[in-house]
This record gives sequence, C-alpha cells and structure tokens, in this order.
Amino acid sequence: MGTPADRPVVIASNRGPVAHSIVDGVAVGRRGSGGLVTGLAPLVEAGRATWIAAALTEGDRLAVATGMTGADGLSVDLLALDPEDHRLAYDVVSNETLWFAHHGLFDLTRTPAYDEQWWSAWDAYRRVNAAFADAVYERAAADSVVLVQDYHLCLLAPEVRRRRPDLTLVHFHHTPFAGPDTLRALPTVARTELLRGLAAHHACGFHTPGWAANLRASWEHWGIGHDTTRLFDASLSSDAASLLDTMASPECRTAGDQLAEQIGDRRLVVRVDRMELSKNIVRGFRAFDLLLDRRADLRGAVSFLACCYPSREGVEAYRTYRDEVEAAAAAVNRRWGTEDWTPVHLLTDDDFPRSLAALVRYDVLVVNPIRDGLNLVAKEGPIVNRNDGQVVLSTQAGAFHELHDAVDAVDPFDLVDTAEAIAAALDRSPEDRARRAVRVRELSLSRTPADWLADQLRAAG
Ligand code: G6P
Repeated sequence: MGTPADRPVVIASNRGPVAHSIVDGVAVGRRGSGGLVTGLAPLVEAGRATWIAAALTEGDRLAVATGMTGADGLSVDLLALDPEDHRLAYDVVSNETLWFAHHGLFDLTRTPAYDEQWWSAWDAYRRVNAAFADAVYERAAADSVVLVQDYHLCLLAPEVRRRRPDLTLVHFHHTPFAGPDTLRALPTVARTELLRGLAAHHACGFHTPGWAANLRASWEHWGIGHDTTRLFDASLSSDAASLLDTMASPECRTAGDQLAEQIGDRRLVVRVDRMELSKNIVRGFRAFDLLLDRRADLRGAVSFLACCYPSREGVEAYRTYRDEVEAAAAAVNRRWGTEDWTPVHLLTDDDFPRSLAALVRYDVLVVNPIRDGLNLVAKEGPIVNRNDGQVVLSTQAGAFHELHDAVDAVDPFDLVDTAEAIAAALDRSPEDRARRAVRVRELSLSRTPADWLADQLRAAG
C-alpha cells in the first residue's frame, strides 16, 4: 500500500463536478464552480481520482445514456439511479430531515412527523447509498482512499468496508453536526444506522472542531462504538485565483457598472446566499428594518442588495421560505422606500458574476446563518472586496472559528444585536475599516482548497 499522498482515490458525492443540460438534443456538460469542485477536481484532472456522483437532471441522464459525461477535462462517473428513489432520498431524507436536524431547523411542535411515506423515503435513502456502495466496490482500484462527501451518503461505508477491506474510507461532512439532544428527533432506527454508518469510516472530518465534537458526543450518548474512526477538522477555503479571474471577466465588470449606477454613492449592505432556511435571510431583513427605524440618518443613504438564488425547490419548506423572504423584503420597502430609494433589492436569479460584483463593492457583508457548516461566502467576500468592506458574521457559522478576530460577531436570533452590528460596521472610521479588511482578507487566504484536500488524504493515513 502506498502513502496517502500517492494512493488512488475515489470521490463519492451526491452532486458531481459537472452538470449537463440538453442543447439541440445533445448533453452538454458544464463544470460547477463550488468549493467542492475546486477542492477535489485537481485529483481527477491529474488522473488520480474517479468521481462518482448521482445523475441529477435530464441532461445528466442523457449524458449517461450517450456515454458523454464530463466537461473541460473533468470526467465524472454518473449513476443513473431510479429518479423517484433519488427524489425521496434527496428531498425527503437528506434535505427535509438530515439537513434540518444538523442545522436545528425543526419546529418541534409540528415537524418532524415520520409517517409511512417518510419510511419509504428512508428505504430509498438506503437504496441510493447501496447503489453508491456498489459503484465504489466495483470501480475502486486496489488500496484506494475513498473520499465520501456529505450527509447524502452516510450509509455506504459499512457495506464497502465489509466487501473491500483494502480501501480506506474518509467521510467529510460539509454541514454542522447535530448534538445528541437534537438527534433525538430522528427515529431510533434511522439515528442508529446513521451513526453506525459514519463510524464505519476510518476517519470523519468537518470544517470546524465543534461539529466533530458533536459527532463524538452523539456516538457516546447513543452508545455507538467508534473506536476505529478518527475525527479531524479541516476547513475549506475559496480558490482566490479563480475568483479573481471571474472578477476580471467582462460579465462581472458589466454587472459592477450596473450596480454602481443603481446604488450611486449610497452605502451598500450585501448578502449572497442560496435561498435557504438556515441562512436566516428573513431575520436579516428584519434587522435592517430595525436599523432604519433607529437611524433616521441612514434612510436614503444605505441599500441592502440580497442575491438569494434558488435552491432545493422540490422541498415545500424551501418554496414557502422563498415567499417569506420576498414578503420580508417587500415589507421593508413599503415602510421606508421613497420615489428615488429602494431600501432592499432582492435578486432571486442565479447570476454568479453579478453576485461577485456585489461582493467587490460591499461596505458591509451580512452572513448571519442560524447554523452553517462553514459558509464560504464569508471568505470569498473579503478576498474580492475592494471597498474596505466589513463582515457581520454569525457566531454559528463554521467560518466564525477562523475569522472571529476581524468580523462583527452576531447572534443570529438577535435582531437588535444584528442591527447594531451593521450600524457599527457602517460607522467605523476609514482607518479601522481598512485595518480590519486587511486582517479578514489575510485570515480568509490563510488556507487553500489544496490544504483541505491534503488534510483529508492525511486523515486516511
Ligand atoms: C451545502 C451542502 C452540499 C450541497 C450544497 C448545495 O453546501 O453541504 O452538499 O451540495 O449545499 O446544495 P444542493 O442541494 O443544491 O446540492
């Protein structure tokens, strides 16, 4: 067996590095731009790794059927799972149940409620994990390291470990991990399978030590043996070079010009998020409303640009939340807007160059999640910002662990605290702004995506 640095690698994740769409009847692949892709793609490009992912769209399915998966030198091995199985595993178990548990989103008076449909979905989650386990079993070269990514794939390890003792399994959870008390809201059977599934890996990693400690506490509280599983923490970072490349693109420059015209010389508060319950978008608008209520001098002088692009629209709670976000933005505008000033601009289409242009220009970046595994925007903002922008950051975001020195900390549930933090950031002297902006950029650049990957491979050793 080689050292972790030269062993072959298999990556398993729900969302792959390439998304396919159908153009004139042909599947056309496009490389994704998220942190996972930047972190792991170099291994595939170097010919060292096979990436197994689920076919998510019609385009992906056509790509599988025509043997044309991949794009831009990045190949991906897509599994054409039964679409209904995948929908149940992704929407109902992964996103409505596990995501809610790990982010503390259940409203326990009403949810969860495990009915027969939910148990069918749990069976589907098992089958999807079993299909990934089969794929790893069949395709992994001898002595490979298997990097399993995230909460969609918690059950594949026991089977793979039994059938392929030569493989080393490393799980990386990109979300927070619920503590033992929150996990009581999962059915006993599911909680036990989940915790055992994770304990069947040789190592489990998280973006911060706190989430790893929660997994250990959950194992111990619920009596799950975990003697052979090492816990580690390794935070992901943004790929600065590729962000700066996009920043220099014509699309981003045009978006920057349009933004300058729209905002004029007003101060700018920005957020960039998926339209996601855990991101706490509604409380962000309510805090901004409170700020305008308290500070007459800021009325007409500051705008809030919220780039909240669609996410997981197959889940009803996400659709309802989108309505709530739109209503909250409209309420602020009704209350304070004037003929020549719109307090909140809510942009709900997915436009990465425009989001980046907003990050370049912000005075204050609001990142106030209820809970977040990491939150890469909290690092991307400081890397690209050219306005000595300040970061208002939730203490519950994993990134807070690294950036706390140079941000305005907020309790995500406290509207007064959030309004005051935005005010403090806007009121800061130019010298203090500059000093903190330099520091938060340094902290954001202190790790690279390659460090994160190296930490995962090291955990295999
Ligand atoms: C989080 C999860 C990822 C997921 C991403 C986007 O960051 O940890 O696993 O891929 O959100 O969500 P989606 O459901 O669109 O893949």
